[in-house]
Amino acid sequence: MTLSRIGLKSKESELISGKLNELLANYQIFYMNARGFHWNIKGHNFFELHTKFEELYNDSLIKIDEIAERILTLGFIPVHAYSDYIKTSKISEVKNISKGDKAIQEILKGYEILLPIERGLLSLAGEHSDEGTSALMSDYLREQEKLIWMFNAYLNTD
Ligand SMILES: [Fe+2]
Repeated sequence: MTLSRIGLKSKESELISGKLNELLANYQIFYMNARGFHWNIKGHNFFELHTKFEELYNDSLIKIDEIAERILTLGFIPVHAYSDYIKTSKISEVKNISKGDKAIQEILKGYEILLPIERGLLSLAGEHSDEGTSALMSDYLREQEKLIWMFNAYLNTD
């Protein structure tokens, strides 16, 4: 059994890094979609949503960097080409959205894909004593669950 520099089992870290790369690919598309919503939004809620979507893509950029650097910390290489992200991502590219409600529905659809990957990572990392990855996933889940509540409140859905 080989241990990595940070004392985790290399085989298990490789498995976790693979899943983190899957999360990274999805997050990159989620990020780019949020930028598109920020740019293309129109209507009476323009100023509010333009700002909200900017917050979202800035937050996504931070998380993308954290995910990639966690992969490096585990001893592996983060995927770093959009052509590879497109192949892996279950979140689809969304184009030409100018209506706020539609943009928010698309963001919520993105979370429906991100959250299960993060929950999977949380349990996988937990099984293998990878506290660093677990802690990151716990933070993301708590923040995103709250955002899902708020976006649903905005849409006034039950
Ligand atoms: Fe901007």
